[in-house]
Amino acid sequence: MKTIHIIIFGIGKVGSTLINQINQSRNRLKQHQGISLKIPVIANSRLVFFRDETVSNSWETDFEAFSVPYKIEDVINYVKTKNYENLVVVDTTASQDFVKNYLPLIQSGFHLVSANKIANTLHFDFYKNLRQNLTKYNKHFHYETNVGAGLPVIEIVNNLLNSGDKIYKIRGVFSGSMSYIFNTFSNTDELFSKVLSKASSLGFTEPDAREDLSGADVARKLLILGRELGLTSELDQVKIESLLPKQLNGKTTLHQFNSRVKELDQPFLKLKSSLPDNKVLRYVGELDVLTEVLEVKLISEERQSVLGQLKGSDSVFEIYTEAYAESPLVIQGAGAGLVVTARGLLSDIIKLSNKLC
Ligand SMILES: NC(=O)c1ccc[n+]([C@@H]2O[C@H](COP(=O)([O-])OP(=O)(O)OC[C@H]3O[C@@H](n4cnc5c(N)ncnc54)[C@H](OP(=O)(O)O)[C@@H]3O)[C@@H](O)[C@H]2O)c1
Repeated sequence: MKTIHIIIFGIGKVGSTLINQINQSRNRLKQHQGISLKIPVIANSRLVFFRDETVSNSWETDFEAFSVPYKIEDVINYVKTKNYENLVVVDTTASQDFVKNYLPLIQSGFHLVSANKIANTLHFDFYKNLRQNLTKYNKHFHYETNVGAGLPVIEIVNNLLNSGDKIYKIRGVFSGSMSYIFNTFSNTDELFSKVLSKASSLGFTEPDAREDLSGADVARKLLILGRELGLTSELDQVKIESLLPKQLNGKTTLHQFNSRVKELDQPFLKLKSSLPDNKVLRYVGELDVLTEVLEVKLISEERQSVLGQLKGSDSVFEIYTEAYAESPLVIQGAGAGLVVTARGLLSDIIKLSNKLC
């Protein structure tokens, strides 16, 4: 039996769902894969909870009762004193601060699995240094959920590259939350603010929905894919058409934004009314490998097209390659949501576990 010790940072919507999925899958994984998953440490931004063996189904009440303030060194030292083998840190925060811990964690013997897109979209020097450290310390980093939540987009892109195929272009609706918002807004009479609030309560949007509406979230996904393809672009080189009106363009606090979100209703209603019946609005990402242009934009698309027919929170990625030149390889399915994202993280943990002795 192989034992994997998982340390989870971020016990919000995605992190909580992951802990519950691990607890539910534990016996099946032991029986069918010979892998024992233990979660001896869970933490939010201020507090940590240590449990010698693994957190149980009562982890939420245990966390409330027994968690203590911490610094990252406390977690590293705790794990060292326990002599745990096969250490995997799972980052289910959306935090730029937490990413600063990646290098010390790798150097202290931890592998990484991350839902947080920040590390892969910081300056290219950091990106390169992170990979050099992973090689030097023989550690693995899995981040499939950075693009398309549980969809195997990064894996398929790498399979194509490893097979010697040349990828020319990737185009699609990259964001499950923006897909849900425009699919619902285009097909109902609901106000834009109402649809946005539903997307947020379903767990589709980023913790701060301005990250979705500003195009920053799609831009990060484009950049992550671009870098998989060997581009050395930076986030500020992605051309973005933001959907945030000037008066709400990031100078507002999140609280102010949430209380003024109805200001989005009129402009989007006007835009929708201006479209012919056979067209719908879609917020798309486009990555041209040859010109190195990465672009996020709002377009009107034929209702009957692949992008126009999207439903629910589905994302779609059209990958144009030398082999798939005429008809692109298409990956489509739920591109946001807590259950699929947590499943994607668990799948990354299993893939990583299979690489360990
Ligand atoms: N929802 C989706 O469909 C989806 C899909 C793919 C990827 N993701 C990614 O999943 C991540 C989590 O999203 P979420 O919706 O679960 O967020 P969330 O509900 O806001 O939870 C974030 C968690 O991270 C913790 N945290 C923040 N800063 C931290 C730090 N410096 N150190 C340790 N913990 C910290 C928060 O603790 P406090 O409560 O103390 O602040 C909270 O427990 C994000 O990166 C998101 O982009 C989500």
